[in-house]
Amino acid sequence: MGTMLKLTLLGVTLGFLGERIYQFCHKTGFFKEVELIDLPNCQLVKGIEYGSEDIHLLPNGLAFISSGLKHPALKSFAPNKPAEIFLVDLNNDVLHPKPLQLSKDIDASSFNPHGLSVYIDERDGTVYLFVVNHPIPEYNSCIEIFKFDEKQKYLLHLKTIKHPLLQSVNDIVAVGPESFYATNDYYFESVPMKIVEGFLGLKWTNLVYYSPRNVREVAPGLYSGNGIVISNDKKFIYAVDIMAHAINAVDVDTCPDNLFVDPVTGDIWTGAHPNAYKVFFYKDEDPPLSEVIRIQKIHSDHPIVTRVYVNNGSVIQGSSVAAVYKKKLIIGTVFHKALYCQLD
Ligand SMILES: *[C@@H]1O[C@H](CO)[C@@H](O)[C@H](O)[C@H]1NC(C)=O
Repeated sequence: MGTMLKLTLLGVTLGFLGERIYQFCHKTGFFKEVELIDLPNCQLVKGIEYGSEDIHLLPNGLAFISSGLKHPALKSFAPNKPAEIFLVDLNNDVLHPKPLQLSKDIDASSFNPHGLSVYIDERDGTVYLFVVNHPIPEYNSCIEIFKFDEKQKYLLHLKTIKHPLLQSVNDIVAVGPESFYATNDYYFESVPMKIVEGFLGLKWTNLVYYSPRNVREVAPGLYSGNGIVISNDKKFIYAVDIMAHAINAVDVDTCPDNLFVDPVTGDIWTGAHPNAYKVFFYKDEDPPLSEVIRIQKIHSDHPIVTRVYVNNGSVIQGSSVAAVYKKKLIIGTVFHKALYCQLD
């Protein structure tokens, strides 16, 4: 790929005292009012109650869901429950999430999955699941690579990857059985320093390429790297900078989180945070909102941005991803439930 591959950075960004506070509030959407948009045909996914931060779809309609993400700065409705990776089948009208068993060499009690990606070996169809892991209690970052056994609903652990350039990974996109692009959401590893970094609005995070023989920074200068995907023709990588409010310089006026590329149309979908402040300072009586956005014709002069769904938190809180398969839409959240909708 290398030179062929163009990088496009989507913007979503967090914000020096005075001006920094205003910037911080503006960037997190603190003052924002949103108009709600409902979809007629949605149901909550039974069995997903503690997050569905990232969702990754296979060509056959099966989807992996990372659930139970924990972080000192984030709400958890089940702080003592180990996180899981669920499998759902979007060919069904009602979803029945199945937890995937992890091979024994992974410590299930400290497992803390965040971003997901899949690489499929075209020669034999082997499915490799890449998982950003922040093992508890350190919350540091590593990438776990698993081989997926569909019959046994089993994830065989192949490898743990750690590297100084992968210090605070948010999301990844796999491009080979052991290679990937990753976004860092912070420059610092320690939680207090992360808070300072976010508040000062330092643009010190980046996008990194990893392969066993070559690890390098490919794009510096992000406020906070977040969702990352590759286009269907493998020529573009789209990544979110979550305090710039844009994707590929397309202004989406919200904080996009994870991205999804429709395998059929190439449209880009995101689960977004109209008010990211509410995600980090959780209040039961004023919960974080959810928003699903679709971007069509991202490479044209006039990309089309459509708000597909906006909820005030009464149904679903803190949407972080949206994926579509055959007229069905699944919406995942940082720490709340998951919603499954029929699109017409
Ligand atoms: C959300 O909107 C519904 C109406 O759609 C309203 O009943 C509810 O009180 C609102 N909740 C919040 C937290 O604003």
